[in-house]
Amino acid sequence: MAMPKDFISIADWNSDDLVRILELAMDQKRRLKKGEHLRGEKPGKVLAVIFHKPSLRTRVSFEVAITQLGGSSLYITDKEIGLGSREAPQDVARVLERYVDGIMIRTFAHEGALTLARNATSIPVINGLTDLLHPCQVMADLQTIWEHKGGIEDQRIVYLGDGNNMANSWINAAARFPFELVICNPSGYEPDPSVLENARKINPNLRYENINDPAQAVDGADVLYTDVWASMGQEDEAAARKEIFKPYQVNQSLLEKTGKKDSIVLHCLPAHRGDEITDEVIDGPQSVVFDEAENRMHAQRAILTLVM
Ligand code: CP
Ligand code: NVA
Repeated sequence: MAMPKDFISIADWNSDDLVRILELAMDQKRRLKKGEHLRGEKPGKVLAVIFHKPSLRTRVSFEVAITQLGGSSLYITDKEIGLGSREAPQDVARVLERYVDGIMIRTFAHEGALTLARNATSIPVINGLTDLLHPCQVMADLQTIWEHKGGIEDQRIVYLGDGNNMANSWINAAARFPFELVICNPSGYEPDPSVLENARKINPNLRYENINDPAQAVDGADVLYTDVWASMGQEDEAAARKEIFKPYQVNQSLLEKTGKKDSIVLHCLPAHRGDEITDEVIDGPQSVVFDEAENRMHAQRAILTLVM
């Protein structure tokens, strides 16, 4: 399987190339910390970053990463381009590819990112989050687990909360990396069944369990992962979800139920402190949340290096 043009889903990439991204991310991180310059062989490339939803980490880390590589970025919101309203997505793609060397898009419908990727045939398109997937986040998460646990292999990773874009992306990662994945959600909030079906097709030995009971799910966990209970675009449901998801809060008592003193806690951020995660846990000794946030930049820079 040749390296894909785009980075839309972890499932599209083979395990070797995904490991290359992580190794490159860690190597560039080390070099950067030593004060080395990372300018690529062909500096001066321009990355358009299109945002239809708010962002701190994704925007800043992509814009800084391309600058570190000797390129530059162009921040575009839907106010300017009106993707699909002012102009057809395929036309936007075909114009943008004449101007820039790569596109990162954060949008609602996953199909929007796919349409851009299909029509911008000469440049890579990177998924900076859709309602379905958030692959760059999970690459940074895998890097963080590798750094803190010395590897990814055979880690028991337990995701608690909504079966959303993060949960779906974890399933894709489980298809490509040798770890055990548990998704623990209230009944009715399962991850996307088509993502799971595809992951099982890619990896018939997928190590995946769906467990509703948090205490049972976290038993033996090396990694606890959580995310907001209402994602961007689901703000109307936030109050109702707060009640439904209460038992899934990552708090000290649940963390102790892993039975492992060295288990680590990750959260993609932004966090709703006091909802899906307590202050005690996010600020506690087992939290690696801010290393994880930093790694967004390193993982994305590695992706940019390979695709651009
Ligand atoms: N984790 C993440 O994607 O953060 P932002 O929404 O701030 O980009
Ligand atoms: N599931 C969250 C992730 C934010 C990084 C959302 O889509 O809002």
